[in-house]
Amino acid sequence: MKKLIVANWKLNPLRETDAIRLARVSDRDHTVICPPFVFLESVGKTLRRAKLGAQDAFWKESGPYTGEASPVQLKRLGVSYALIGHSSRRTELRETDAMINKKIRAALRAGLKVILCVGEPWNVRRKGLPAAKSFVRTQLQKDLAGIRTAKPTARNLIVAYEPIWAIGTGRADAPHDTIEISKFIKNLLAARYSLRAAKVLYGGSMTSRNAKSFVQYKEIDGALVGGASLKAEEIRTIISIATQQNGNR
Ligand code: PGA
Repeated sequence: MKKLIVANWKLNPLRETDAIRLARVSDRDHTVICPPFVFLESVGKTLRRAKLGAQDAFWKESGPYTGEASPVQLKRLGVSYALIGHSSRRTELRETDAMINKKIRAALRAGLKVILCVGEPWNVRRKGLPAAKSFVRTQLQKDLAGIRTAKPTARNLIVAYEPIWAIGTGRADAPHDTIEISKFIKNLLAARYSLRAAKVLYGGSMTSRNAKSFVQYKEIDGALVGGASLKAEEIRTIISIATQQNGNR
């Protein structure tokens, strides 16, 4: 399976010219660039090889919803992927599993590929991997409840495992723990949703220095990269490390 690198720029950069410059250096195959909404159009016009991703998508197509962006509008703008349920939205904006569930359905209906973000806080992980697995299982069950009718397939539903304590902290997960959780997620998706061979990405303080220690394993299908995706040299190196793995199989 080809490795996928997803660049999540979050609320960066401030200027469109910087966004376009960053898009150019990240424009490679098997890469998804998720700029802030305001730069989706200009970054989309810049990309030739990478796909365009949104950092969120609302659950309604249109209507009286101030400040939201609809999955249908995003699709028409050239967006192919949507991050749903990122931990910063779950925590800072109190986004619930019920809201995330509605967003996933609407995004799939609109023809977007969903990158569903899950992951446990430190107070769970410190109790060990079984506790983390059970936390992630509950998130997946709630987020994907009744989702069969929205026809997810292994092609349009990707899971990003991002332990919250690893995001933006410089303290990445141990790859052997990520492998175990990734296998757990893949088994769950296959058993409960008949989703075989769904991609599971790792996210949380990935850099050019630790990228290989994750993406070299077949259980980890790529990465969701935040901070390092804003630095040209870093993201270029991470993408080329992932691409080398593609060449190896
Ligand atoms: P980070 O962010 O790479 O800066 O830890 C990852 C993410 O939040 O998607």
